[in-house]
Formats: sequence, C-alpha cells, structure tokens
Amino acid sequence: MTLYYRKRPTAPKCSMRPADGDDPTPPGTAGGDLLDGPPPLRYYPPGSAPLRERPMTSSQINVKTLLAMRRRGEKIAMVTAYDYHSARICDAAGVEMILVGDTLGMVIQGHENTLPVTVDDIVYHSRMVRRADPRALVVADMPFLSYQVSTAEAVANAGRLLKEGRAQAVKIEGGREFLNTVGALTDASIPVMGHVGLTPQSVHRFGGFRVQGRSEDSAKRLVEDAGLLERAGCFSLVLEGIPFELAREITESLSIPTIGIGAGPHCDGQVLVFHDLLGIENELKPKFVKKYADLNDVMIAAIAEYRREVKSGAFPDLDHSYGAAPRRASRADREDD
Ligand code: KIV
Repeated sequence: MTLYYRKRPTAPKCSMRPADGDDPTPPGTAGGDLLDGPPPLRYYPPGSAPLRERPMTSSQINVKTLLAMRRRGEKIAMVTAYDYHSARICDAAGVEMILVGDTLGMVIQGHENTLPVTVDDIVYHSRMVRRADPRALVVADMPFLSYQVSTAEAVANAGRLLKEGRAQAVKIEGGREFLNTVGALTDASIPVMGHVGLTPQSVHRFGGFRVQGRSEDSAKRLVEDAGLLERAGCFSLVLEGIPFELAREITESLSIPTIGIGAGPHCDGQVLVFHDLLGIENELKPKFVKKYADLNDVMIAAIAEYRREVKSGAFPDLDHSYGAAPRRASRADREDD
C-alpha cells in the first residue's frame, strides 16, 4: 500500500515558505518542493489537485489583506488547525486563515462539546500552530468563560493568546452583549473576529446544535448584531448554522468579510474543521460538511497493514534496519553512533 505520507518532504523547512518571487513554480501547476515528485495524493480524483497550492506571493496575510480580498470579491479559505503538522499542511495548501478553534475540545480532546476548553489549552495549541510559521493569519478562539465574565478578564485572556500563544487575532462568540468587549480588545490592539448564529458555546441555551435565524425575529436580531459587531471593531465575522438567504443578507449589509460554516455560498469565505474536511472524524456528519478525503479509512488501513507485517515478520525488513558499522568508518559514520 502506497501512502502519500510515506515520502516525507526532503526539502528544508524553509522551502515551504519561499520569499516573494523565489518560487520557481508557475501558478496553477504542481509545485515540486513539498512532496518531491510522485506519487500523487491517492485520494484526489486523478488530475484534480496539485501537490502544492501555495500562491507565488507568499507574504504574510493580515487583517488588511482580508479586507482587500473582500473588496476584490476574492473568496477566503479558512481551516482549523491544532498543531504544528496540521498547520504546515494547511499552509502548504495555501489557505488564508487558520483557526485554532475551541472545536479542539471535541476533535482532539474527545469532549461532547467545546465548553471544557481552557485558555491554557488554546495557548498550547496556538503555539504549536505558530511554530509552523504559516503565511495564513492565525486566529485563536477565546474559550467559554474566558471573555464573558468581564472585559478586563477578556483583555487579559486575549492578551495571553497573543503573547504566549502567538496568535494574531482572537475570535469570540456572541452579538450585542459583547460590544464593550470587542471595543476593549480592539482598543488593546487585539484584532477580533466575531461569531454569530449557531454559537457552539451556547449549546445548552439553544437546546442542542440547532440552525439559528429561521424565525423573523431571530433573523432580524442576527442582522442587527452583525452590524453592531462591525461597528464595534470586528475585522471579520463567522456566520455559523444559519439559512443561506440570511447569510447573504448579512454579508451584503457589512463591509468586513463574513466567513461561513453551514451558512451557504454567499459568504466572503468558508471555514471547515480540519478533521471533518479530511474525513478523519467520521462519526459526526453534519449536512454542511463536505469531506474532501477519507483519511480515517486510509489511516486504519495503514495501521492494520503495519500490524499484519509486524505479526508476519515482514516488517522490519533489511531496508529498514541498520547493519554493523563499517570497519573503517568515516568521521560522519562515527558521529552517527
Ligand atoms: O472552534 C471552531 O472550530 C469554530 C469553527 C467551527 C468556526 O469556531
């Protein structure tokens, strides 16, 4: 069984992030330096995906870049990532934003919702993501009760996400009730992404993960909240779990980019959870998730094959074993020991 990750990147780490103009790869063609030559990613339909999508201009994305993209009508792709390796993968794929989401409570920690996640957890994961030095803007989620108690606590906790977690922006869930918080954070020069609609930290108030904004009153409230959050200083807004017509109305009423998840095609960008889009998570199947791969099956098959080979003695063979040291070892050999 040939797996794409058998062939590890041979180029030094810095080759994932060439300086502007350094990349010899013409746009739109398969790049050479991340995965050096074939085999192609086996789960893409043939010919559909280059191995490296990172654009030629690889300057760091910031909040201004995103506003400019919205003005140009260029869609924004955001994915969650929770560690160094997933951040490298997202960055190599060329996404503009990485979210260190509190969904890590579910997909990494195995909780049934996001409520148990702590500021320490987000700091820990954000540090790993930023160690990948991605071109994408890294947004860290403010977990449940890290910003709801007081604006002073919100600023202190958001400050930790930037100072210790090295995030470049934070995201908070909620509408008009957090305008002072958004103001205090932006006054402290902490860029804030808002998040309205199905806000998972309110799962108990909603009585489950339910689509929001279906009644006239709640739709009206969401449109108002979105406008208020923009005026309070948010640089972008996640719209989650709302009807696509409402997401379109909100998007058209704002001048900051909206990033949808379960909010239809009319947002300025989209976000998906890493484990969902790659099919690593295969128990939950929300309607809005599109799986672009089936890594759960790929990983089980790989580990099962490894197990069979261990049991049969086929692994390790001599190709994966060290021989005795050569009699006249070179200096390099001696240093290997
Ligand atoms: O925590 C998260 O991953 C999120 C996205 C689902 C928007 O908030």
